[in-house]
Amino acid sequence: MPDTSSSAAPREAFAERLLQSALSTMETCCVYLGDRLGLYRALQDRGPCTAAELAAAASVDRRYAREWLEQQAMAGILVVDVSTDPEARRYTLSAEHAEVLLDSDSLSWLAPVVQLVVGLTGPLPSLLQAFRTGEGIAWSAYGADGREGQAGQNRPAFLNLLGTEWLPAISEIHARLGADPPARVADVACGAAWSSIGIARAYPKVHVDAFDLDDASVTLARANVAEAGLAHRVRVTAIDAGDAALAGRYDLVTIFEALHDMSRPVEVLRKARVMLAPGGAVLVMDERAAETFQPPGDTVERLLYGFSVLGCLPTGLAEQPSAATGTVMRPATLRAYALEAGFRDVEVLPIAHDLFRFYRLHPPGPAGS
Ligand SMILES: C[S@@+](CC[C@H](N)C(=O)[O-])C[C@H]1O[C@@H](n2cnc3c(N)ncnc32)[C@H](O)[C@@H]1O
Repeated sequence: MPDTSSSAAPREAFAERLLQSALSTMETCCVYLGDRLGLYRALQDRGPCTAAELAAAASVDRRYAREWLEQQAMAGILVVDVSTDPEARRYTLSAEHAEVLLDSDSLSWLAPVVQLVVGLTGPLPSLLQAFRTGEGIAWSAYGADGREGQAGQNRPAFLNLLGTEWLPAISEIHARLGADPPARVADVACGAAWSSIGIARAYPKVHVDAFDLDDASVTLARANVAEAGLAHRVRVTAIDAGDAALAGRYDLVTIFEALHDMSRPVEVLRKARVMLAPGGAVLVMDERAAETFQPPGDTVERLLYGFSVLGCLPTGLAEQPSAATGTVMRPATLRAYALEAGFRDVEVLPIAHDLFRFYRLHPPGPAGS
């Protein structure tokens, strides 16, 4: 007998949605395989390939290559002409899909998000335990996939937008970065240093001191800086941004997509304030979380909570005591942190971005200002 109860439709809809989610997870993992094994790259370099040709080009097993190609065609990622013998079928990667999967300069490049999401699943056994104990998980436990995925997902924006749109939109900071004497920038929690590189490229006079506490990120950052030919103006140091040993006088202190990850954000903001040169500015870029908690959420809120449960909250709890912020740092939370750290005011900057919000933190001015 068909179930005609009033709960049948919502139940079926939810079951269908969960099935689609499970399917998306598997397809995401298959994209990860194609990215990490160089299968998409081989398809782009060689043009349409049979399974045997792809296997040879990417040095993978032919049977696995065929199964993956068929899966990719079924998922609508690759195109194939099925009129030929299965072994002779050639699979094509379109230019549009290639841009999303392979073009590291494109703002549409999404392969790093896939890598990051897969990286977030790596420590799931530890996360089960962490939920029970309240302990955290070090960022290093998310491995190369976490680190490289995080770095790659912000790379195009840091290289294409940071120095050409975002900073020029803040006229006072833009003017200082272009002026003499050469400005000094502290890029706090720099990760792979794409933000430092973006700033140094856009402003040829500035010197950037980039800091991160994760040794593997610092190694990656130094390699990126060297490859960019900027080692004479961008110096990367492994240090906790709240460390008493951190010193210097900076015209600009930046914290890109990292404040919510920090165990002690107030301490780091206080340090950032103390390091400011007269007239200096603190710029924080963090997730564009909604002002208030209003479930069910839109794509951004759902993404942020996914990242938070799997990655940012556990990494924030890795050191104790911790503010335990999580990815969903709403503007009021940041404001409270900034005021506690001794800032006078927090300004939300009119820079448009789907995922990020930009804050300028104003230190107390000279008496009377
Ligand atoms: C989500 S990643 C962002 C990296 C980079 N800013 C970006 O946008 O790609 C967060 C980074 O913050 C670093 N981090 C967290 N707490 C820190 C602290 N107290 N001092 C320095 N770095 C810290 C982590 O090691 C990690 O590289």
